[in-house]
Amino acid sequence: MTTEAGPLSAEQTTAVLSAAVRAPSVHNSQPWRFHVTASGIELRADPARRLPIADPDDRELRIACGAALFNLRLALLREGVEPSVTLLPNGPTGALAIVRYAGDAHLSPADAVLYAAITRRRTNRKPFEDQSVDTEARHDLVRAAELGHARLEVMSDPEDRAAMRRMLLAAHAQQLADPAWAAEFAEWVGRSQAARDGVRLASSGPQPEPQDAWVFRDFALGQGAARTPGKDFETEPMIAVLATYVDDAYAQLQAGEALQRVLLTATSLGLAASFLSQLIEVDQAREDLRELLGDAVHPQVVLRIGYGSPVAAAPRRPIEEVLDVD
Ligand SMILES: Cc1cc2nc3c(=O)[nH]c(=O)nc-3n(C[C@H](O)[C@H](O)[C@H](O)COP(=O)(O)O)c2cc1C
Repeated sequence: MTTEAGPLSAEQTTAVLSAAVRAPSVHNSQPWRFHVTASGIELRADPARRLPIADPDDRELRIACGAALFNLRLALLREGVEPSVTLLPNGPTGALAIVRYAGDAHLSPADAVLYAAITRRRTNRKPFEDQSVDTEARHDLVRAAELGHARLEVMSDPEDRAAMRRMLLAAHAQQLADPAWAAEFAEWVGRSQAARDGVRLASSGPQPEPQDAWVFRDFALGQGAARTPGKDFETEPMIAVLATYVDDAYAQLQAGEALQRVLLTATSLGLAASFLSQLIEVDQAREDLRELLGDAVHPQVVLRIGYGSPVAAAPRRPIEEVLDVD
């Protein structure tokens, strides 16, 4: 049970934190904690939920926490409370951000649309329809990233896409060849329906096949259902790179906020998304991708976006497990 804190009733605190934890996180590791006081909510990293092999510098951890922070902002506005946010990525207590209650507020119509998408958004690892994302929707996604002080590079040049596929293949092979990476991955994926974190078998998507142009990870660890012959992925998915202008802990938190704005915008437009993070996690791939983008920005997240079929929501731990109260 949460308790009353500042302007929020116990029910409101629960509602706000429930929205925050719906954010995506690598392998559904949910690497966050929330310290609730009478004056605000401190967002902290949970060091026990780091991925030391896949994410040794905590880049993806900060991105996930940034995404949770964006949901938290929307949820506070929805409860009529203005959030005043200070990012503190190098805070002494592991604090990543402090969100202070700063008076009354209301949810704008645009934010109401994003708020409504929080529970509908999910990572969709299934094939998407062979239909390209229309120009207006692409524009809205690019604008969403800009509003989050980031850039969304939609990869449309065929040569760049071919180069990216080669980098992805090499990065994927490098991770698979590392026994420590494979052991860490296996700890978090292929989970049963009872799991409250990690990736459930049911969410793993189709078993990867050699003909797949864009390499996905095998979240079912070889135990997934065999693919129906001919049931391939869409031929030309929309691939987009979310990038920032600098690359430090602060920028990575901001990238997480921008990512969530992009994903919620996509959801509100009826679009689905999945990730290709081998390109970010493997240093060489990230550097090559940066060069491909012209060296001016730092890639943080690689997304596949399109029109998908429904998938089940991934689980979350109960709020009590992520809550610290004074
Ligand atoms: C920074 C980041 C990187 C991710 N990378 C991948 C990835 O490479 N492949 C993938 O299938 N999912 C990836 N995910 C998605 C998570 O696995 C997903 O968010 C988590 O399982 C919870 O599911 P949900 O997004 O449906 O709520 C990533 C998420 C984040 C925040």
